[in-house]
Amino acid sequence: MKFMSHILKWVCALCCIYNVLPSGLFLPVDCHGELEKTCSGNVELDVQIRDICEQASKEFPRAYTASITDYGAVGDGKTLNTHAFQNAINNLRSFANRGGLILRIPRGTWLTGSFNLTSHLTLYLDEGAVILGSQDPKEWPLIAPLPSYGRGRELPGPRHISLIHGEDLVDVVITGQNGTVDGQGSLWWQRFRNKTLDYTRGHLLELINSTAIVVKNITFLNSPFWNIHPVYCRDVFIQGVTILAPLNAPNTDGVDPDSSSNVCIQDCYIRNGDDAIAIKSGWDQYGIAFGRPSSNIVIQRVIGETTSSAGLALGSEISGGIHDVFVEDLTVVNSASGINVKTAVGRGGYVTNVTIANVQLDNVKYAVWFNSNFGDHPDNNYDQHAFSLVDEINIKDVSGKDIIHAGNMVGFMEAPFKGISLQHIHLNVHGGGFMWKCSSIQGFSSEVVPLPCPQLQGSLNQAVSQVS
Ligand SMILES: *[C@@H]1O[C@H](CO)[C@@H](O)[C@H](O)[C@H]1NC(C)=O
Ligand SMILES: *[C@@H]1O[C@H](CO)[C@@H](O)[C@H](O)[C@H]1NC(C)=O
Ligand SMILES: *[C@@H]1O[C@H](CO)[C@@H](O)[C@H](O)[C@H]1NC(C)=O
Ligand SMILES: *[C@@H]1O[C@H](CO)[C@@H](O)[C@H](O)[C@H]1NC(C)=O
Ligand SMILES: *[C@@H]1O[C@H](CO)[C@@H](O)[C@H](O)[C@H]1NC(C)=O
Ligand SMILES: *[C@@H]1O[C@H](CO)[C@@H](O)[C@H](O)[C@H]1NC(C)=O
Repeated sequence: MKFMSHILKWVCALCCIYNVLPSGLFLPVDCHGELEKTCSGNVELDVQIRDICEQASKEFPRAYTASITDYGAVGDGKTLNTHAFQNAINNLRSFANRGGLILRIPRGTWLTGSFNLTSHLTLYLDEGAVILGSQDPKEWPLIAPLPSYGRGRELPGPRHISLIHGEDLVDVVITGQNGTVDGQGSLWWQRFRNKTLDYTRGHLLELINSTAIVVKNITFLNSPFWNIHPVYCRDVFIQGVTILAPLNAPNTDGVDPDSSSNVCIQDCYIRNGDDAIAIKSGWDQYGIAFGRPSSNIVIQRVIGETTSSAGLALGSEISGGIHDVFVEDLTVVNSASGINVKTAVGRGGYVTNVTIANVQLDNVKYAVWFNSNFGDHPDNNYDQHAFSLVDEINIKDVSGKDIIHAGNMVGFMEAPFKGISLQHIHLNVHGGGFMWKCSSIQGFSSEVVPLPCPQLQGSLNQAVSQVS
């Protein structure tokens, strides 16, 4: 019975995806009630999405305010303020249970090494306030690798801590009048290029195992590595954030929700040297063993520009799985791909129930890029039989101009990607080469120009007969 009801839900969900009236199809009788529920439909989906963002955006009152100058910090861009930041947080920790606290960073340039946040804290950057990351690697001390990665992401062993760091926290807000966190990443990028890094570079902001995180109205510049990395987190709201790094700055991902759930990202502008947004969940056997998915992720009104990478990536680290992702109003310009699902043998995990709607692309090499050959392993002990399940990916209402290839879609021979649905897609493709390249991929399409490869030309009727 459970199995039947699951199938019915699936059929009904497909009806909604294709906006097909139930009367036009052969459907088991019981489906009609189910259809009313599911198809009425998008309403239910809208509510769930609104709930995720509403829940994640909750802010709590603060009883006290302090300024970083109370702790002897000097905003001249030269004085190193690491101790001031660390002392401030240590002293202010006691306010966590006394109604919370705002730590204000006034206008000025505040040079500092890494510091940790605490719970029930608002870090508030005034207009013209810049938190400037030290270029001395010792100011970014080493911490243990994440269990779901088994080692530093770029080099074995420990990794440099992020500039702004937090672990096991609840209720943290980073906001203000669009102040700046500047990682001064250039030395780190040069060390990456000349291969003199000893350990994995630090992020600008990493929060581990934390709940109720708000990052709003702030600018992140020149991160050494990924910019914003919530990992093992819940209820994360990122809104009105500008992220900038040179287009050739290596691994400067914008926002990477990783093994995290209930994440809402809205109204962000990201121009950087790697994926604008990449949803992740751990790496090969370490991520599989840790088994923590990313789920209930909502992304709305984001603009991305990244010459080498994707506007929206799922992967390549998906070993804990990714499910229930909703993306709308995504604009990607001058980039290698619009939407990129990437994985490799050994990753395992899955990507399911992803909806991406209303996408504008301009000057993009691959509008859609699904690849199963990303490679890049923590070590050689990955499972040669760990394929990733990719299913129920719905992409609709996409328009693109100056596109070189409509789609490059390559699943695993041993585990084809399936349930890919493409709807209302109009791409102005030029420049020769292939329009669509497909292998080990199965899916459905309607109103897609240029016409996709036969593997993606399934119709809804086929989809229904496959499940019933
Ligand atoms: C910050 O937290 C990390 C653990 O998350 C810890 O290793 C490090 O020592 C802390 N740094 C400071 C300055 O307290
Ligand atoms: C995560 O944080 C909570 C406190 O919010 C703590 O109780 C728990 O032990 C932490 N989990 C891990 C794995 O560190
Ligand atoms: C964001 O920062 C800008 C620039 O200082 C300011 O004008 C605006 O009021 C801020 N928005 C919010 C919602 O605080
Ligand atoms: C914040 O500052 C960035 C960088 O200067 C700017 O591009 C962005 O428009 C500003 N955002 C707001 C809300 O003022
Ligand atoms: C590599 O780059 C760093 C940072 O610019 C520089 O300090 C170092 O001397 C360079 N090393 C080599 C071997 O080129
Ligand atoms: C699919 O994900 C959406 C969020 O994008 C969620 O609202 C919906 O319930 C999920 N569907 C299923 C069948 O789990």
